[in-house]
Amino acid sequence: MNVYKIFKLTINNKKKKMYLALIIILSLFFTIASLYFPILIRNIINQLENNQINTLIVVSLVLFLILRSLIEGVNEYIISKFGNIIIKDLQQNIYNRIINYPTYFFDMYKSGELSSRLVNDTEVIKDLITFHIPKVINGIIMIIGAIVLIALLDWKLTIVILLIAPLIFGIILPMMKKLENTGEIQQYEVSKFISKTQETFKNIKMVKASTAEDAEKRIISKHINNLFNVNLYESKVMALISPLVNFLLILGLLVIVGYGAFRIQNGTLALGTLIAFIIYSFQLMTPMSSISSFIGEYHKANGAFKSLTKIINEAEERKIDECEFDFKLNSNISFNNVTMEFNGKKILDDISFKLSKGKTLTIIGPSGSGKTTLLNTLEKFYNITKGSITIDGININKISTNSLRKNIGLVSQDIPIISGTIKDNLLYGLREDKITIDKMQKSLDFSMLNKLVTSQIENLNRDVGEGGNKLSGGEKQKLNLARLFLKNPSLILLDEATSNLDNESKSEILKSISELTQYRTTLKITHNVQELCEDEEILFIENGKMLFKGSHGELLKNNERYKKFIKVMS
Ligand SMILES: Nc1ncnc2c1ncn2[C@@H]1O[C@H](COP(=O)(O)OP(=O)(O)OP(=O)(O)O)[C@@H](O)[C@H]1O
Ligand SMILES: [Mg+2]
Repeated sequence: MNVYKIFKLTINNKKKKMYLALIIILSLFFTIASLYFPILIRNIINQLENNQINTLIVVSLVLFLILRSLIEGVNEYIISKFGNIIIKDLQQNIYNRIINYPTYFFDMYKSGELSSRLVNDTEVIKDLITFHIPKVINGIIMIIGAIVLIALLDWKLTIVILLIAPLIFGIILPMMKKLENTGEIQQYEVSKFISKTQETFKNIKMVKASTAEDAEKRIISKHINNLFNVNLYESKVMALISPLVNFLLILGLLVIVGYGAFRIQNGTLALGTLIAFIIYSFQLMTPMSSISSFIGEYHKANGAFKSLTKIINEAEERKIDECEFDFKLNSNISFNNVTMEFNGKKILDDISFKLSKGKTLTIIGPSGSGKTTLLNTLEKFYNITKGSITIDGININKISTNSLRKNIGLVSQDIPIISGTIKDNLLYGLREDKITIDKMQKSLDFSMLNKLVTSQIENLNRDVGEGGNKLSGGEKQKLNLARLFLKNPSLILLDEATSNLDNESKSEILKSISELTQYRTTLKITHNVQELCEDEEILFIENGKMLFKGSHGELLKNNERYKKFIKVMS
């Protein structure tokens, strides 16, 4: 049953169980106090009728009301605090899980969709646990308590109420069922809406350059309309249910009042008792409507829970088994018959090579041949399907992913930049206390980013904008190279690391890079012929297959395919 699973996900420690118990106990007090209220009123009215009002009973009524309000206030605060704790832990736990998921998980979802689920779905679940469930529990107690008490007051009137109440429920419940799927659709549309707007704003220049504003408006209006329609449907159902419920309740009340008045005339019922009955009838209405709205809320939370568990379980099933093998790279790399597939399609096909410590291997091949994928498998971003990759003789699946990545410096083709300053980007993922301003400055010298502005501090504190949109393409690439310099890794992976630079800065930076890579194991991808020297060791891949391997000079002499490829490249 999903309520149990939702509880297991949210109420996951003793403290939260205590909170929930406290909320239910306090609500119980409140419910019992509310149930006692009509009896007090009845006594006062009966005393008034007999002209023998007792001041004690009036004082106790006032004290009673103050106590009831106090309990209400305390309970409300605890409920809200509990709700905030639930949502805080839920968001933190789910985020902590998601961020550790393997890279392919993020290929399956849009980032905006994940963020929206993290914010909205958790909110809906919190509402169910902290608000609706305690309300329903109390509602049920209130109904049972009220029925027992009215039965003690007058069983004939009780029978009238017992006949009316199930009738009202019988009419409302089937109507509430119509709202079963609306919650799930609402959450789905909200997440699509958020992810689409996020994507559009992020790529705003592309949108404008392609004059795609109208197309974007149409796509968004589809989501907005879907959301509007489902909300409207909910409003229609609710607009039907609410007045109907009120109508039925008033009708029921009229029956009670009518029958009660008849009994008073007969002299078989006291006025105080009838008034107590009427108050009880009102008290029965609130829990009845909260139980019916609970059904809608439950379906909503259930939809949110299903999407969240899908996110949680999907990656859990595929989690890689790895030994926590902490490790300092020495960097003899070996690919042994490596095959890697994306959705059943072979992207790398039986790749084998060895790269000794301190040497550089350059990977060349047409676009889409699998070069970047090859580097990705070494970083363990994606699992290989067949074969093995070893570093210093150890299978990389056995090495702890964290310690492996700490030893690798990657300058990737897509040039990632985080929002913030140049300094934020330089220090990203590194231990700040270990890196001096002087070292940072050196890294900027290394990648020739020092020419950006004159003053050193101004340079480091320069804001780069979201995704680095305040920097030029070349500057972004230089920033990534500076980061590589600071990381000082033993294994270097360069994926077209200088592709955005002009020839002048390219040749200068290549000099710095060759100094950096001189004694480090390096895997390099390039489309730049100028970078290749005579004795450069080349691995040529096409359609995921390794076609040949050899020195640049040798291949140029003897290999027709290579000659043709280089000719087109230059
Ligand atoms: N996450 C992914 N999911 C599915 N297919 C992918 C994924 N990443 C890459 N591919 C596919 O794998 C193939 C190899 O891609 P890869 O990025 O390795 O090419 P590449 O050799 O680096 O090309 P380029 O020179 O253009 O950078 C391509 O056909 C690409 O469409
Ligand atoms: Mg690539």
